[in-house]
Amino acid sequence: MERVQVSDTVLLQTSRLLLRDFREQDSERIIEYFGESEAQSNVLRNQRRPEQWASYVTRAMQYASRIPFGSRPYLALAVVLRDTQELIGMYSLWDAQPKSDRARVGWHYSRRFSGVGYATEASREMIRFAFAERRVAQVYADCFESNAANVRVFAKLGMRPSPCLPLLKWLLAIKYLERKPIVRYTIENQLLTG
Ligand SMILES: CC(C)(COP(=O)(O)OP(=O)(O)OC[C@H]1O[C@@H](n2cnc3c(N)ncnc32)[C@H](O)[C@@H]1OP(=O)(O)O)[C@@H](O)C(=O)NCCC(=O)NCCS
Repeated sequence: MERVQVSDTVLLQTSRLLLRDFREQDSERIIEYFGESEAQSNVLRNQRRPEQWASYVTRAMQYASRIPFGSRPYLALAVVLRDTQELIGMYSLWDAQPKSDRARVGWHYSRRFSGVGYATEASREMIRFAFAERRVAQVYADCFESNAANVRVFAKLGMRPSPCLPLLKWLLAIKYLERKPIVRYTIENQLLTG
């Protein structure tokens, strides 16, 4: 996949999606998507305050304006449809500095756009980016065990459940201050082996 630069906005792209820096007007959609009733059982406690998303977008924009894409260990990107530029979700990648031992990915999409492969498509590109361009050794992601669609996305990406999951999923619940088990899936960078 190629990276394109349009004005100051750095984009990763797939056949149907663009992953770009946030713009101020994105916060309205992000608030709406985190507030969707069907999503509530899959949203973490610390993501449930709508007012936090406006400041999240502002902080992401400030961060992006301060730090060039190539030097950012943390990516916060809006996911938009290539055809219409409509924002459908968001993506985060933590600890993605070059040669990082372990980076974490996280995403959230509107249910309006679910079921047509967008989460898998964007995640594949982010994992490719982490492995090929940042030489990250391992990428992991967490979600509620009950979020079967998201766990299916993990599997489609080739991610595997962490060892010790029966215990770990409760430790993660404690860490995230949740009452339901949270699973962790990982994928190793095959480019670094052999
Ligand atoms: C979970 C979510 C992010 C997945 O995004 P998506 O773009 O629909 O994902 P994809 O289309 O790439 O893949 C979804 C897969 O889950 C499957 N799936 C959907 N609902 C399912 C369910 N209840 N049980 C099991 N699998 C399910 C789909 O059939 C598809 O698998 P397939 O390609 O083998 O048919 C999105 O659907 C969603 O529910 N968003 C709400 C908020 C949320 O859950 N955010 C993530 C927090 S970590």
